[in-house]
Amino acid sequence: AGWLRHASLSCSHQCQSKLPANIIALNATESSPVYTAGIELQQGLKGIYGSHVDISHDKCQTPSAAVIVGTLEQYRKTCGSLKDVPDLDGDGFWIDTKDTVVHILGSNEKGALYGAFEYLSMLAQGNFSEVAYATNPVAPIRWVNEWDNMDGSIERGYGGPSIFFKDGAIVEDLTRVKQYARLLASIRVNAVVVNNVNANATLLTTENLEGLGRIADVFRPYGVQVGVSLNYASPETFGGLDTFDPLDASVIKWWTNITDQIYEHVPDLAGYLVKANSEGQPGPLTYNRTLAEGANLFANALQPHGGIVMFRAFVYDQLNETNWTADRAKAAVEFFKELDGKFDENVVVQIKYGPIDFQVREPVSPLFANLFNTSTAIELQVTQEYLGQQSHLVYLPPLWKTILDFDLRIDHKASLTRDVYSGKHFNRKLGGSAAVVNVGTNTTWLGSHLAMSNLYAYGRLAWDPTDDPKGMLQDWIRLTFGFDEKVLDAITQMSMESWPAYENYSGNLGIQTLTDILYTHYGPNPASQDDNGWGQWTRADRTSIGMDRTVSNGTGYSGQYPDEIAAMYEDIDTTPDNLLLWFHHVNYTHQLHSGKTVIQHFYDAHYSGAETAQYLLAQWQSLKGKIDEERYEHVVRRLEYQAGHSIIWRDAINDFYHNLSGIPDQFKRVGRH
Ligand code: GCU
Repeated sequence: AGWLRHASLSCSHQCQSKLPANIIALNATESSPVYTAGIELQQGLKGIYGSHVDISHDKCQTPSAAVIVGTLEQYRKTCGSLKDVPDLDGDGFWIDTKDTVVHILGSNEKGALYGAFEYLSMLAQGNFSEVAYATNPVAPIRWVNEWDNMDGSIERGYGGPSIFFKDGAIVEDLTRVKQYARLLASIRVNAVVVNNVNANATLLTTENLEGLGRIADVFRPYGVQVGVSLNYASPETFGGLDTFDPLDASVIKWWTNITDQIYEHVPDLAGYLVKANSEGQPGPLTYNRTLAEGANLFANALQPHGGIVMFRAFVYDQLNETNWTADRAKAAVEFFKELDGKFDENVVVQIKYGPIDFQVREPVSPLFANLFNTSTAIELQVTQEYLGQQSHLVYLPPLWKTILDFDLRIDHKASLTRDVYSGKHFNRKLGGSAAVVNVGTNTTWLGSHLAMSNLYAYGRLAWDPTDDPKGMLQDWIRLTFGFDEKVLDAITQMSMESWPAYENYSGNLGIQTLTDILYTHYGPNPASQDDNGWGQWTRADRTSIGMDRTVSNGTGYSGQYPDEIAAMYEDIDTTPDNLLLWFHHVNYTHQLHSGKTVIQHFYDAHYSGAETAQYLLAQWQSLKGKIDEERYEHVVRRLEYQAGHSIIWRDAINDFYHNLSGIPDQFKRVGRH
């Protein structure tokens, strides 16, 4: 149930007087989100306060306290006008708890359901305050991506096998899918791509399309649309054509046909997600067609149905490290900048937050500052691929905020990343966020109870990127673990310290995460970064370390940013310490703004990060008896492991650079074991 536990609370006399005695879900037909809202309210009230409340659908007046949920339009038709309601847009809603009749009115049905979950979230936190406000999303695209394979495994998933697929087909029992739909609707996520970006065309068999239809039927009452990832070569590998050239008439016809078939099974399909010409995946470049031509192929097929194409910007080639100016971080701008304005209106370029690959710290992808006439979305990762794979506690919103709030200074004007991808800055209709989530059948969903705060906060930030990491976290804690002050304080502190700690014991100063990058993306392996074509290099040798990405002497990457930002990163003196080695190649003895040398910073940070990890465990252990045994023990095991693994990280990284540089640790800790 995640944060939708609706654990029972005692209800004082005052609380009794505020609980609704009726639920009116206006004019709801079964399978509509408003109908769902009625049911959710009913079950929530029962779960939290044990009160049984009837639902009706058609009348407006009630003799007693009630909650009315519906669309604003329906409300006006059935109940008349309502004052004070400001304009609603997108999937927005109005909530008013000031009266004996609580009003929850959506700009559409989805909005009404979101409002119902908002009200339930208040009740579940024992919050009976009188509020009246409207809230609207910053962007229409608030998606999650699942990297589920048809065989039931999940790429970079750490919560068990797929809830959707098994042995090449869609599972029969979709109970878990329904539970996932509830979780997503409660955080206002409006679409889910159910299969891996490294896509398998067998999703397109008639039988599987029927299965996809069943999945969509489960998500629909929650206002969550389904999308699918496509394999670019499908016309050839699956359709039996001798080409997958996007300009070939037979290929166009094939995709149009398949698209029409999919819409027969899923009439409200959200659209396609496409990974093309990336990491060995096929794409239009094979035929000398541009990525825009490649994307527009799908845009055309989807257009009559109202679907959109999320086209991934994660395109890069393998590189040769002996070339000082070779740089994978430059790839996205190199591939996409010249295509600006060439994508159809229903194409959205989906851009990972940083230019490499979900590292513990990256500068914002410069592509956001290079597409002026193209809709974009930001891609985040809830699944902690490089960030401890749910075996380490890492609360991610503070990391995400370094990107969302970054001012790119496009044309010397304020241009926050979040205003760019939302469409606001360049005045574009489409835009938003996608997160790779990878929930599985594990009862914890993600493999760890505490990791669920990341999914919860993702949804909140997709709706409103200015939301506060700590505030969201504390809502999540109350909903998940109750209101004990000690519990609240401990989990807050642990979570807020977790990302800085992980950065400290994994990779510092913008050198990247230093995990094994060849296979697992897990555990320390600084040697694996270099001497291969993947381009996640550190360029560490006996005296120096870091990627010189300056224009004057390096790869030229810093020049991909607008002038002010380019100038900041070009100059070592104005580059922040936490990205120093991302932008500059320096001696280990180089002095940071902090006054420390690079190497001593490495040593100290690794000790300090690992020490925090010991403390995370101790903080959790102080909660024994305040959290149910099962969850308490599960988290203890995770944190014990993390405490140990952080020491392995510390010593592996410190020893590596100590051996390489020969520079002793000022405090004589390194190299003694
Ligand atoms: C990472 C990840 C892959 C994934 C790829 C992508 O490289 O390790 O598993 O396929 O990103 O985002 O496409």
